[in-house]
Amino acid sequence: MNIVLGVGGGIAAYKVASLLRLFTEAGHDVHVIPTPASAGFVGMATWEALSGNAVSNNVFDDVDKVMHVRLGHEADLIVVAPATADLLARAAAGLADDLLTTTLLMARGPVLFAPAMHSEMWQHAATAANVATLRRRGVTVLEPAVGRLTGADSGPGRLPEPEQIFAAALELVNSGAGGSGPFAMPLAGRTVTISAGGTREPLDPVRFLGNRSSGKQGVALAAAALHAGANVRLIAAHMDVPAPAGVELITVQTALELRAAALAAAEDSDVVVMAAAVADFRPLHSSANKIKKQDDVADPVITLVRNPDVLLELVRDRTRTGRRQIIVGFAAETGDEQSDVLDYARAKLQRKGCDLLVVNQVGVDKVFGLDQTEVVILDRHGAEPITAAGSKTDVAAAVISIISDQLAAT
Ligand code: CTP
Repeated sequence: MNIVLGVGGGIAAYKVASLLRLFTEAGHDVHVIPTPASAGFVGMATWEALSGNAVSNNVFDDVDKVMHVRLGHEADLIVVAPATADLLARAAAGLADDLLTTTLLMARGPVLFAPAMHSEMWQHAATAANVATLRRRGVTVLEPAVGRLTGADSGPGRLPEPEQIFAAALELVNSGAGGSGPFAMPLAGRTVTISAGGTREPLDPVRFLGNRSSGKQGVALAAAALHAGANVRLIAAHMDVPAPAGVELITVQTALELRAAALAAAEDSDVVVMAAAVADFRPLHSSANKIKKQDDVADPVITLVRNPDVLLELVRDRTRTGRRQIIVGFAAETGDEQSDVLDYARAKLQRKGCDLLVVNQVGVDKVFGLDQTEVVILDRHGAEPITAAGSKTDVAAAVISIISDQLAAT
């Protein structure tokens, strides 16, 4: 799909680089038109490098190609972010004083504005009237987010997060296209809970038993679910990577905390994905004070007790309540002389009773913390394994697509 991304002259222009990335990674061809004022915040080179297309903000560049006519006509969607008070005013008045506003007048497809400005400017009667005019004409103007603004001030006026603008753009195009098309959002209206990262089981206030999970796969799954239009809850144990913007983030430390969060979140989730590496055992005693080296105890012994199996409990809970829900487990397996990885995985699938099992073959130099991975996805019957390989983002997209198909079939 051809997208024109108009960038206004506001500090939030830097966040639009991430929005551009979301569009290009989803396979769309994006032409960026920055306003002259925006060049003071983010330079043309950034937009050219990230979009892979030449960037101009001048109606007199490439006059032979009549850029504004071509870009305006060919755009399947125009997104303007950040939409400043000035840009909203010029668009509402129908001015054509730069390449972006000229292109907006040529557009026949859907147009989305994501405003960002100080609260006083957003709430000013002039801006409110301009927004109302644009909305009357069928232009979508998002409400700005409420929060910290450029300086010490905070209130309504923050640019919505790139993922939210991206999701709103998908919704806009899909609503026009009857819910299908290049921006299809198979998980629109669905709630997806994903656990990610590794739990930490405390021994004392400074020490814990942990594991090598980086959280990358869970975060990639959360991003893929967001892209598919879902409301995403991310239950994050320890992760080496940040949570994607746009998720509802619930942070936990221990397996017991993760269990409580997962069981509560599952109550109204259409999908639960247990990508977290949950400790199977925790120390029986966690000392309130730092454990000291004791001269009379040469080899201290840590007694471990079993943690509950959260995945198993989720499946039981679903059966007990009769709710319709897809539950996805992960398995980290190493084969041995008795059985290969898939045999162990099929046995685990049986034991846990989930709908899908994503199987990783693990080893010291495999999977943990790496960006590339290969998984085998088994469905409830374990019969026809699907292999997905590539970046964790590619694998996440494959898993989310299988989940979407299963949801559509139920
Ligand atoms: N899991 C869980 N609760 C636990 C342990 C694991 O919910 N206490 C979930 C993980 O999030 C994952 C799946 O169970 O989705 C498989 O975890 P894995 O560690 O591979 O299997 P285990 O059940 O622990 O079995 P084993 O260690 O014997 O292979």
